[in-house]
Amino acid sequence: MRDVIVALDFENKKKTLDFLSLFKGEKPFVKIGMELFYSEGPDIVREIKDRGHKIFLDLKLHDIPNTVKRAMSVLKGLDVDMTNLHAGGGSEMMKAAAEGLTREDGTRPLLIAVTQLTSTSEQLMRRDLLIERPMDEVVMSYARTARDSGLDGVVCSPLEAGKVHAACGKTFLTVTPGVRFADGDRGDQARVATPAMAKELGSDFIVMGRPITAASDPVEVYMRALNDFVK
Ligand code: C5P
Repeated sequence: MRDVIVALDFENKKKTLDFLSLFKGEKPFVKIGMELFYSEGPDIVREIKDRGHKIFLDLKLHDIPNTVKRAMSVLKGLDVDMTNLHAGGGSEMMKAAAEGLTREDGTRPLLIAVTQLTSTSEQLMRRDLLIERPMDEVVMSYARTARDSGLDGVVCSPLEAGKVHAACGKTFLTVTPGVRFADGDRGDQARVATPAMAKELGSDFIVMGRPITAASDPVEVYMRALNDFVK
């Protein structure tokens, strides 16, 4: 199951397809986020799917249960492999999302929850959200609620993957951004792990953007990540 997901954080279709064209033999699992989806619309998902890539559609839905269920029902038609929502929407919303995403034959794409964004600090939680508990406790509680609502996993730091598995079980997936090579630039990611460390810590999927997309030889860096994390 372990895989490397490449974050396609590009502003338009041309830049995205130029990047994907560099890959001749390999078909990386890719992540399409809000920027690309909002600029190009659902066709960009269809086009990349047609090229043979698995897709994580990272739109982080958060609304009333009925609206999320109906939106997930639309996304189901795009035949993505993984998508997500905010656990903060609550268990009713998560259950409705899973229902909306379920295909006629009972299968559905992997559905992953965002617990607290990594941009949210304990100080922000206290000040803006009136949440007084420590971050770890909040994240693990959201993860358990996601699991109990029938979701498949959470987005978290590789450094939290072990705790999530301890709290929610080994088969509950951890999808982990914040991955950098030891000799690479961290950029704006504060808490990072290498692909090899992420594997050691129990991550199921690593999400890597700039270390691959901004490299002079993206294919070589992707193969290195694959080798360290999957092989
Ligand atoms: O370029 P970089 O490797 O930092 O990209 C990581 C990707 O994962 C980006 O698309 C970013 O939005 C996403 N992400 C993250 N941290 C989270 C959730 C998503 O970095 N907590």
